[in-house]
Amino acid sequence: MSKKNLTILAIETSCDDTGISIIKCKPKSEKREAVFEILSNIVSSQVKIHAQYGGVYPLLAKREHQKNLPTVFKKAVQQAKLSLKEIDLIAVTVGPGLEPCLWQGINFAKKLAIKFDLPVVPINHIEAHILANWLDNKQQTINNEQIFPAIALIVSGGHTQLILMKDFGKYRILGETRDDAAGECFDKTARVLGLGYPGGPAIEKEASKANRGPASVDLPRPMIYHKNYDFSFSGLKTAVLYHHKKQPKKIKKSHKYIQTMAAEIQQAIIDVLILKTIKAAKEYKVKSIILGGGVIANNELKKQFKVQVSKLKLNFLSPPRKFCTDNGAMIGIAGYYNYLRKRIVKPENLKADANLRIA
Ligand code: KG4
Ligand code: ZN
Repeated sequence: MSKKNLTILAIETSCDDTGISIIKCKPKSEKREAVFEILSNIVSSQVKIHAQYGGVYPLLAKREHQKNLPTVFKKAVQQAKLSLKEIDLIAVTVGPGLEPCLWQGINFAKKLAIKFDLPVVPINHIEAHILANWLDNKQQTINNEQIFPAIALIVSGGHTQLILMKDFGKYRILGETRDDAAGECFDKTARVLGLGYPGGPAIEKEASKANRGPASVDLPRPMIYHKNYDFSFSGLKTAVLYHHKKQPKKIKKSHKYIQTMAAEIQQAIIDVLILKTIKAAKEYKVKSIILGGGVIANNELKKQFKVQVSKLKLNFLSPPRKFCTDNGAMIGIAGYYNYLRKRIVKPENLKADANLRIA
């Protein structure tokens, strides 16, 4: 079975992106090396709809998924230029995420699986963010056997987790956020500064315009020197809020203030993420550092990570920007590795788990 090409239809609806992708997996050897061809990867983003709330509004997101799924599916199949009979497997996100949203993808997967008599694998969204690194076939220059053990840092709008990855399917969470996720911190502080949603790209843009040199604001780096690998970002958000409140109206609105604050917020988040990840990499003597999740789309974060990782001479895996944020292709690749691990379930047994843990 592992030598056969596998065409996977993958569905992602855990948050505010409706994603469907069709990928072809071509195993290269007896081991788990494979080449992945993305035949289609359609993402319908709800960013504009949620922008007015400054964050994702779950019941609205659920309704949008329900509305978008048939169209996104049709586009994905058309773009892949294949008949549904050629699909071998369905992969669908079952958690973690917003439960009403997860159920939309699951119910869609169930119907397809029953109609076309296809096997289904349930996917953990966090694992998919890690495996998104394998979608980029450049990655194939590193043999899988040289990658593990690795430290994976997954940072998105809903999650901030530091994970020890011993192999595909072998994970241990070393630490995670105790309150806001890193992406959530970008989103909320951007809102304070009057920037749009999602906040991450908006903060990155403003930060890039800031004058370099010593920062004139000094924001906290919460829990940076704590002994454990947990994170906390709500204190940073509160510090931004107070700083902003104290400024006269004219200053608050000035480009200089917004740009300086944006640069310092971004740097505070980067400092905490890098320091904890490098510390874990040293403690667990890993061979690689793997990044994933929407926040990794931040170029400054990626650049500074690269510099630090190169000092340790470790492998550095970071997905191309388009695979950092939620998409169906990363669910498809997770489908491949979970299929190899025989994680097939009956469609009627698929169940959403908003708090699903990677294990
Ligand atoms: O992985 P993702 O698409 O969805 C979740 O699973 O949450 O991540 C979305 C998050 C948002 O909080 C967004 O502000 C953040 O990723 N993000 C960024 C950037 N692009 C997206 N954060 C910092 N810099 C960026 N360029
Ligand atoms: Zn995500």
